[in-house]
Amino acid sequence: MKQVQIAAYGMPETVAQCVDVEDVGVPDASEVVFEVLAFPINPADINFCLGIYRTRPPLPAVPGAECVGRVLRTGAGVTSVKAGDLVINLMRENWAQRRRVSEQDIIRLPDDIDLRQAAMVRINPPTAYLLLKDFVALGPDDWIIQNAANSAVGRLIISMAKKQGVRTINVTRRDDVFSELNALGADICLLDGDDLAERASRRLKGAPIRLGFDAVGGESTKQIGQAICDEGVLVSYGSMSHSAPTVNLADLSFRGITHKGFMLGRALARRDRAGVQAIYDELVAQILDRTIYAPVEAVYPIEKIREALAHSQRPAHGGKILVAPNGMV
Ligand SMILES: NC(=O)c1ccc[n+]([C@@H]2O[C@H](COP(=O)([O-])OP(=O)(O)OC[C@H]3O[C@@H](n4cnc5c(N)ncnc54)[C@H](OP(=O)(O)O)[C@@H]3O)[C@@H](O)[C@H]2O)c1
Repeated sequence: MKQVQIAAYGMPETVAQCVDVEDVGVPDASEVVFEVLAFPINPADINFCLGIYRTRPPLPAVPGAECVGRVLRTGAGVTSVKAGDLVINLMRENWAQRRRVSEQDIIRLPDDIDLRQAAMVRINPPTAYLLLKDFVALGPDDWIIQNAANSAVGRLIISMAKKQGVRTINVTRRDDVFSELNALGADICLLDGDDLAERASRRLKGAPIRLGFDAVGGESTKQIGQAICDEGVLVSYGSMSHSAPTVNLADLSFRGITHKGFMLGRALARRDRAGVQAIYDELVAQILDRTIYAPVEAVYPIEKIREALAHSQRPAHGGKILVAPNGMV
């Protein structure tokens, strides 16, 4: 079967290659074999290839934090899924044509879910959902602010916040996405930059911004930290600029803001299996009723992984790049 491997850490489109490896074999009693129908290329996968992600396994290594698959075979003791069911895998190394995994690591999806959306349900939707849930108890008409607002996570935050009645200030590095974000329910869109706090405050006429999300790092973190209210919470969950987040001491000490970090794995680990299942059940329902949706720009075959990786790193793309290892989805 085909699998994507990196033989060195470096530029993803250079170090990744599609190789032939032995098939996954038959499942043990508690295991499931599924064919991978599609996987997205996320910023975390790029960082994994670069060798700057939190896990840096020995080489050669197989990237791939998420995928959607269809069950081919199940072990004798498996009860929660059967051949033909759609599943997502909570474990990594998914850039391959087939996976053999433990039953406890997979979540069954409904048959009628859109496959492209299903390929992206494992990471970004629960990230947006838990960012909104785990830090500040937000009520209707509360304001939040976020940078990288046109990212997949940013768009999900807009849609979910809108559904909860929470208002969003959405900060981007280009203004040609404002109309799309407004159509999703964004209340205010602003360009990133030096006087962000002032511009936001003018638009809000003094209303407090209790929570800010940062996925850019560097100076952009500082702008979000300045924009939130005294005692507000700033959550860093990504670093698209590859720069460490900067926060003003004055914001931390004089104004008492709190700067926290978020990682999906940690947030899910605080929940039991039933709690994790309940989150995915809710998110899948939101995909089915189209409350949440992530745009896709292109789908590549697994043999074209290098082209797919190069494409995913171009600025200003219009949606996720997916790879379909077993034929187009
Ligand atoms: N902590 C967690 O558990 C967790 C989970 C999921 C995602 N994340 C993080 O969330 C972030 C967004 O992920 P995603 O999948 O939603 O991303 P995505 O859809 O690929 O979008 C990337 C976004 O980053 C912007 N961007 C790229 N380089 C930038 C730079 N140098 N300065 C400012 N903005 C830049 C892009 O803007 P343009 O459109 O202008 O190019 C785009 O809005 C990533 O940092 C990812 O690692 C974290």
